[in-house]
Amino acid sequence: MKRRVAILISGRGSNMAALIKAASAPDFPAEISLVVSNKADALGLERAKAAGVKTEVIESKPFGKDRAGFEAVLQAALDQHGIELICLGGFMRLFTAEFTKAWYGRMLNIHPSLLPSFPGLDPHGQALRAGVKLSGATVHFVIPETDAGPIVMQGAVPVSDHDTAETLSERIIEVEHRIYPAALSLLASGKVKIEGDVCKTTGSEASENFLIAPVVN
Ligand code: GAR
Repeated sequence: MKRRVAILISGRGSNMAALIKAASAPDFPAEISLVVSNKADALGLERAKAAGVKTEVIESKPFGKDRAGFEAVLQAALDQHGIELICLGGFMRLFTAEFTKAWYGRMLNIHPSLLPSFPGLDPHGQALRAGVKLSGATVHFVIPETDAGPIVMQGAVPVSDHDTAETLSERIIEVEHRIYPAALSLLASGKVKIEGDVCKTTGSEASENFLIAPVVN
């Protein structure tokens, strides 16, 4: 049986689209059963509908600081659709610790940096200001702390001296679209397990590839 997944979005939903596309393969171990947006004008909603995925809008703004109130409505929608796993895809609203604990081990997030470096806002700008030569993206389990939690998968890209936050984000988003479906597939097929603060993957090996930057010709 395919695991039933909800994707939570706030914006354009390009990671959502990558997950929907991957999940359309017959042998993918999860199906995208629901997309929830906390913003009525999120571009991703139209993309989800066009792909034939059920959507719900649960506006978070009217709840103000009442996070638990918002989460109660969200949880009801998740229950109604029999959701087993959650993927956050650019979902720009913080959860209560209670909600993250209730979904611990079943809720993934993607962040455009090699965590634990550069959590929070403007990760691309943070990476450029730090002068790192490699950056990337991270899929991790959600815990109460923002952009932290056991790491399921990471992908790295080189950073060039000429990069702006925009060009770096364009490079990293390609990696995001590769690793998010791959990480969801591992979770849905029961291949990842959390040991303390660390996530381990059945049958995994270290890749022999190096990524070195800068390269000077
Ligand atoms: C993605 O780059 C994702 O990694 C980031 O928001 C973007 C959403 O784009 N998430 C975070 O920064 C979480 N802290 P998308 O709507 O096109 O998937």
